[in-house]
Amino acid sequence: AAPSTAQKRFLGPVVYAHRGASAYAPENTIASIDRAMWMGFSWVENDVQRTRDGELVVIHDDTLARTTNVEQVFPDRKPWAVKDFTAAEIARLDAGSWFGPQYAGERVPTLREYMDRVQDNRQRLLLEIKKPELYPGIEEQTLELLDELGWLDEQHVAKRLVVQSFSADSVRIVHRLRPDLVTAFLGTPSVADLPKYAEFTDRINPWHTTISADWVKAVHGLLGAHGKAMEVDTWIVDDAATARKVREMGVDGVITNAPDVVREAVGGF
Ligand code: G3P
Ligand code: CA
Repeated sequence: AAPSTAQKRFLGPVVYAHRGASAYAPENTIASIDRAMWMGFSWVENDVQRTRDGELVVIHDDTLARTTNVEQVFPDRKPWAVKDFTAAEIARLDAGSWFGPQYAGERVPTLREYMDRVQDNRQRLLLEIKKPELYPGIEEQTLELLDELGWLDEQHVAKRLVVQSFSADSVRIVHRLRPDLVTAFLGTPSVADLPKYAEFTDRINPWHTTISADWVKAVHGLLGAHGKAMEVDTWIVDDAATARKVREMGVDGVITNAPDVVREAVGGF
């Protein structure tokens, strides 16, 4: 059963390791998932996009430039958009060296590879469909893969998976395709607009600078798509003072690059 309000106060917020424990290991890699697990955090967040030949991959930016050595390997392919490269090309890239030499050889994981590791580590996943406007049909494709891997069974849906997007349309599509799935909308709708979101999602996940205690209360006062009080997971909170501040506002979860800092400041699991 979901924890009661009193239990949640005691346990602290849900802590999501953003792009994995990305303050300590290169974001959205297997190393960053493993790091979150070693630190004792079960929830990891990631970003899903698609290659030219239709493979789902885990990467945040819509280009490969910042987090891989693509400029050296494919100097003539500027602006190095994820959607212009095949999965085999992306598999050749180093996605760890930019972060530190000890991570040389980390790859941009395919979503399939990523899910295998999350499953092996017995972790939970906050999956973001990133820039869906670039990838028509990505919602259906992502759900098909999750289904194939057993992540849409009752157990996973109840405890281990949330799908989120900055695109309300994308969240709506996910909800329509799989009404049982827990979803989140990334953003800060006005209090007046919140009821529209409650029709198709369960959680509202805002940037921490955009919220107040009153706004969080307004979200909590609504029943979401599954008939339970809506909840709030805020991002990106990497310091103790901000963690305490959002906790005071009553958020349910904190999405952070440094999950240990948040746990030290306000507890959490
Ligand atoms: O999970 C929240 C957060 O990931 C949203 O921003 O740009 O890091 O995907 P971004
Ligand atoms: Ca994200």
